[in-house]
Amino acid sequence: MTIIDKTSNVPAPRSAPEGTPLLEVRDLHVEFHTRDGVAKAVNGVSYSVNAGETLAVLGESGSGKSVTAQAIMGILDMPPGRIPHGEILFQGQDLLKLPAEDFRKIRGQKIAMIFQDALSSLNPVHTVGAQLGEMFRVHRGMSKKDATAKAVELMDRVKIPAAKARVGDYPHQFSGGMRQRIMIAMAMALEPDLIIADEPTTALDVTVQAQVMDLLAELQREMNMGLILITHDLGVVADVADKIAVMYGGRIVENAPVHEIYKRPAHPYTRGLL
Ligand SMILES: Nc1ncnc2c1ncn2[C@@H]1O[C@H](COP(=O)(O)OP(=O)(O)O)[C@@H](O)[C@H]1O
Ligand SMILES: [Mg+2]
Repeated sequence: MTIIDKTSNVPAPRSAPEGTPLLEVRDLHVEFHTRDGVAKAVNGVSYSVNAGETLAVLGESGSGKSVTAQAIMGILDMPPGRIPHGEILFQGQDLLKLPAEDFRKIRGQKIAMIFQDALSSLNPVHTVGAQLGEMFRVHRGMSKKDATAKAVELMDRVKIPAAKARVGDYPHQFSGGMRQRIMIAMAMALEPDLIIADEPTTALDVTVQAQVMDLLAELQREMNMGLILITHDLGVVADVADKIAVMYGGRIVENAPVHEIYKRPAHPYTRGLL
């Protein structure tokens, strides 16, 4: 079985009927209950992403971008986190109502996340080949040998030079840009329908940022995935996003196709950004 195959254009089967957004967040509220009281981090966020579409999420630090992403991904710390209200419809199904086991399956296979800091997301004591291969061993039941071959294939796919020679290397032996490529490979391994990338290039040198972003955009197009791209970088947004949601104080203050926002930003914060 070929997991990533450029020559195959057959889309993965989707359970939702035609026209249903891939992901639809509806009126999501997230609060944190701490000794100091209740902090309302997300106050009624709604946004949606279709297959093959990129939604860029912008907003100042602390505006709730990551917490919203964590809720979608099911990795919020609960407690102290709580979701008092809202729906997260993935292929028409509310993830918040799913049994934990079913949510875990979706999270592992259909929704993947790329974080800013690859070094803390990768395990330092295992080779990158072992970590990539584990995806195929655990989720696809492959032998160690086959899984390693898949790992090499993936490393090739994200354009890591000499992939075959480097599959036995450890995370710290790669540059920041190469490590982030490995994170992208990890996220893509099981051909998810949706990728959430939370400031995926922020920790990288400026020259490397564009290359990693180009790679992500290219793979997304080829695999027709939905992408939620949380970013500060307006240059990136103009190039790759279809829609923009701007967050401010836990709310969406602007949500529109890219060309409309550039023409007439509605909110002062967005005008400031532009
Ligand atoms: N585990 C947590 N416990 C308490 N407060 C949190 C926690 N995680 C995030 N917050 C708060 O939620 C708010 C939104 O954070 P976040 O979504 O990370 O912002 P950003 O838009 O920068 O990604 C912030 O005020 C942050 O302090
Ligand atoms: Mg964040």
